[in-house]
Amino acid sequence: MLVIGGSSSTKLAQDLAVTLNAEYLPSNTKRFPDGECFLRLEKESIDDDVVIVQNSSPDGNLVELFLLQDAAYALGAKRIINVIPYFGYARQDERFNKGEPLSAQVMVDHIMLSCDKVVLVDIHNIDIMDWFDEVDVVNTFAAPAIGRYFKDSAIDLVLAPDQGALQRAHLVSEALNCESDYMIKTRLSSTQVHMVPKSIDCNNKKVLIVDDIISTGGTIVAATEELKKAGARSVYAACTHGLFIGNALDRLKKHCDKIVCANTLESEVSVVSVAPEVAKAI
Ligand code: R5P
Repeated sequence: MLVIGGSSSTKLAQDLAVTLNAEYLPSNTKRFPDGECFLRLEKESIDDDVVIVQNSSPDGNLVELFLLQDAAYALGAKRIINVIPYFGYARQDERFNKGEPLSAQVMVDHIMLSCDKVVLVDIHNIDIMDWFDEVDVVNTFAAPAIGRYFKDSAIDLVLAPDQGALQRAHLVSEALNCESDYMIKTRLSSTQVHMVPKSIDCNNKKVLIVDDIISTGGTIVAATEELKKAGARSVYAACTHGLFIGNALDRLKKHCDKIVCANTLESEVSVVSVAPEVAKAI
C-alpha cells in the first residue's frame, strides 16, 4: 500500500504510513502564478492500492484532491482510498432556502467519481454518509485519540458544549474513567450566551470540554468563562477539527488552560494524531 500526502495533510499522511507500515509519497504540489494547482507524483508507476490523504476544504484543497486521484490512477493505482480528514461543506447539508445548492451532496457526488473507498473523521452530520452510495464509506472518531492524549492529566469531568455532542464527550470520559455531562446554552442577546453544566457541579474540578469543530472559538470561550465563574479549577478544551478562524486561537489561549485538536487540520495545536483510528478504518 502507498500513502500519498496531499498538501493539506502531510503530517497525518506520514503518521498513517508509519502506522500502516506503508510507503509514503508526498505530493509535489505548487500553485501557478494565476493560482491554479500544479502537482506531480514523483514515481515511475504504481502497482498497488493507494491511500490519498487530503482535505476537501477550502476549495483549493478540493481541486488538489481531484488532481491527486487522476495522477494516482494514471500511474496505475489499483484502488484509491480517499482519507478526507476534514470534509468541507458538511455544515451545508440542507437546502436552507429556495435557489441554494445542496453543497455537501455536490462534494460527495464529485469525490465519489474517482475513488473506491472514503474514510472520514468525525463528519459533522452522519447522514451525509448515505450520499456515498457508490463507494464504501467509513466515518471514524477522534474521541479515543483525545482520550489517549489526556490519559495522565487527571481530568475530573468531560463536558460537551451542547447535548448533540454528548456522545463524543462520553466516549472521551470512558477512556479517562471520569464523569461526563453536557452544557445547557441560553441565549441572552445576539452576542451573549449563558452556559452551565446540565447536572454535574464543576466546583474545584479539572474540566475538559470536547467539541467536533472549533471555528471562531466563541462556543469554547463562553463555556470556559462560565465554568471558571462556577469554580472550575482549570478548563482544557479539545476538538477534532480546529479551524481557528481569525484570532480564535489567541482568544482561546487567553481563556483556556490548554487547547489541543486532532491533526485533521494542521495548526500549532494539532497534537492529537488520529492515525491509529484512520488506519483501522482503512
Ligand atoms: C456546532 O454545531 C459545532 O459542533 C461547533 O460547536 C461550532 O462549529 C463551534 O463554532 P465556534 O467555534 O464558532 O463557536
